[in-house]
Amino acid sequence: MKEEEKHFLLTIRICLAAVIVILAFLSVLMLPLLDPSALQKAVAWTTRPPDSKWSAPDSLSIKESPNAELIHYGQELVAHTSRYLGPQGTVASISNGMNCQNCHLQVGKKIFGNNFSAVASTYPKFRARSGTVESVEKRINDCIERSLNGTALDTASMEMKGIAAYIRWVGKDVPKGKIPHGAGIADVPLLNRAANPDKGKEVYESNCARCHGTSGVRHPDGKQWLYPPLWGSDSYNTGAGIFRISRLAGYIKMNMPNEGGVNRKVLSDEEAWDVAAYINSMPRPTKDIAQDWPELSTKPFDHPFGPYADGFSEAQHKYGPFQPILDAHKK
Ligand code: HEC
Ligand code: HEC
Repeated sequence: MKEEEKHFLLTIRICLAAVIVILAFLSVLMLPLLDPSALQKAVAWTTRPPDSKWSAPDSLSIKESPNAELIHYGQELVAHTSRYLGPQGTVASISNGMNCQNCHLQVGKKIFGNNFSAVASTYPKFRARSGTVESVEKRINDCIERSLNGTALDTASMEMKGIAAYIRWVGKDVPKGKIPHGAGIADVPLLNRAANPDKGKEVYESNCARCHGTSGVRHPDGKQWLYPPLWGSDSYNTGAGIFRISRLAGYIKMNMPNEGGVNRKVLSDEEAWDVAAYINSMPRPTKDIAQDWPELSTKPFDHPFGPYADGFSEAQHKYGPFQPILDAHKK
């Protein structure tokens, strides 16, 4: 082939590639015209202030901290809580066999995986659930008593000091008062109907049972879970934050099925709400929470136990529809 012919063919190829790129770009722009809800959905999941990007510090840099040993111990306790504090724990036997990491994924570092990025920057803070200003240590004990259905750690213990030091280290680069993008748990757009446990059971059987089974699957070390149980006597109790279905649906939507460690959003919003309704309709340990929410009007819309400051039933507060509740609160 002559040199000019080669050149001509190359030019044609480049032009074709450019046309394909432009067409692909235009079709993305057209999408909302065909289905306006597609754009809304995309916006709901992506708009955040641009200055709030956060990526977790690398654990290899812990050694540069003056209290490196304590932070390392805390990281180990968050990842493998049960080995130390579970039913056969080597330090004490004060919790149900779950690890903090079961819910605070990737040692509390995963975006929308209930990470710890905003703890150092926002605590101590007033929390309406207790009606008091809470320290990081109080908040950790809350999860031990509720999510781990256990007994609070002594604030002076090495275990509490380690966990608190690690959690503060995870959020050390976040300016005071700021909450980074992807902190905690995502909010799934509300349904205009009640979440449905029967539909959720079907979602569970097709997407979750292959790992979680009917009562979790134990790790070969015998001390923690390979796949933690989602209900029953070894699961979180009725006082846990994740017993509110908006928290559970948000956690599931962004993180489950747990494959590849990224926010895959495999389930639709409806499936996430329904499977959360199913899981939280199953039996689990109870906790006396009579002292919670001393100011009734501050109870979250999806708090499943009365009394309430409004006239809606416990069933509606547990499963929805939630929009009428939110509208009534706005008035
Ligand atoms: C069964 C699930 C579960 C387990 C296990 C669990 N947590 Fe939590 N944790 C939650 C939920 C849900 C929240 C509230 C998140 C929200 O509302 O955004 C939370 C919140 C927290 C917070 C406050 C985060 C913030 O930004 O305000 C801390 C600190 C915390 N947990 C520590 C722990 C520690 C330490 C352990 C292990 C001893 C643990 N958690 C185990 C579910 C769990
Ligand atoms: C591929 C296996 C797998 C599948 C499928 C899966 N999970 Fe999980 N799930 C896990 C693992 C592993 C953890 C604990 C993560 C950790 O400790 O790092 C977990 C943790 C959880 C937790 C928090 C811990 C607890 O016990 O409360 C919930 C809730 C949960 N999964 C719900 C679901 C739901 C709902 C589905 C189906 C939509 C699902 N999972 C599908 C593996 C899986």
